[in-house]
Amino acid sequence: MGKAKMKKLREVSGFSFVYENKNFLAPALNDFEGNVIDWKGAWAEKAFKNKQAITMELACGKGDYTIALAERFPERNFIGVDIKGDRLWRGALTVQSKGLSNVIFVRTKIEQLDLFFAPHEIDEIWITFPDPFPKKPDTKRRLSAPSFLSLYKKLIKENGLIHFKTDALDLFDYTEGSMKEAGFELLTVQRDIYGNHLEDEITSIKTYYELMHLADERTINYLKAIVK
Ligand SMILES: C[S@@+](CC[C@H](N)C(=O)[O-])C[C@H]1O[C@@H](n2cnc3c(N)ncnc32)[C@H](O)[C@@H]1O
Repeated sequence: MGKAKMKKLREVSGFSFVYENKNFLAPALNDFEGNVIDWKGAWAEKAFKNKQAITMELACGKGDYTIALAERFPERNFIGVDIKGDRLWRGALTVQSKGLSNVIFVRTKIEQLDLFFAPHEIDEIWITFPDPFPKKPDTKRRLSAPSFLSLYKKLIKENGLIHFKTDALDLFDYTEGSMKEAGFELLTVQRDIYGNHLEDEITSIKTYYELMHLADERTINYLKAIVK
């Protein structure tokens, strides 16, 4: 690992609004002082000191969507989740420089989130530009594979919304199918949102990966569903 990356990994642990699961074999969440925290069912009160609804972005990378949404919706709490500390470091710097008090980041494997959050603690989920895993044997690793959808059902409140954005059409079609199969109610299914002028103020927020895909002239697709 390069020195610059090591430095980011060290620094990200020092932000008071970043919580890290440092050992996936013995999962636990640590705060910036190294204390193990167990806030299952109490994240709004403990982390945000309020009772506001929680929007969680999964695989948030540098947290672009989380931050843009948090700026637009100060009356909600936002939790960005990713496994990569160097990406979260970038997001954490932005949150700090903007002085946002309604954003935290959790560095963990998404697969272990139910160890840290109570059933139905989350009000809304966003997934933006997850890895497409195009090869057949890898499809179970997609963040819209059945095992992940079961996890989201556990985490999100009844009738909570899930939003999904991707450039990968194969993944988009797969996700439309897997969500239907799981019993989610699809409210919006939009292919090529910009080409078809379907975007709005929220769906036109662009992440680091989206900007790269747009530069490659790829189309962007969006769907929204009620988790049932
Ligand atoms: C292609 S990037 C997209 C990042 C961001 N959403 C964006 O649009 O810029 C995919 C992200 O998913 C994260 N990721 C993939 N699998 C994960 C998992 N099982 N748990 C947590 N993060 C995961 C990666 O670390 C990476 O940051």
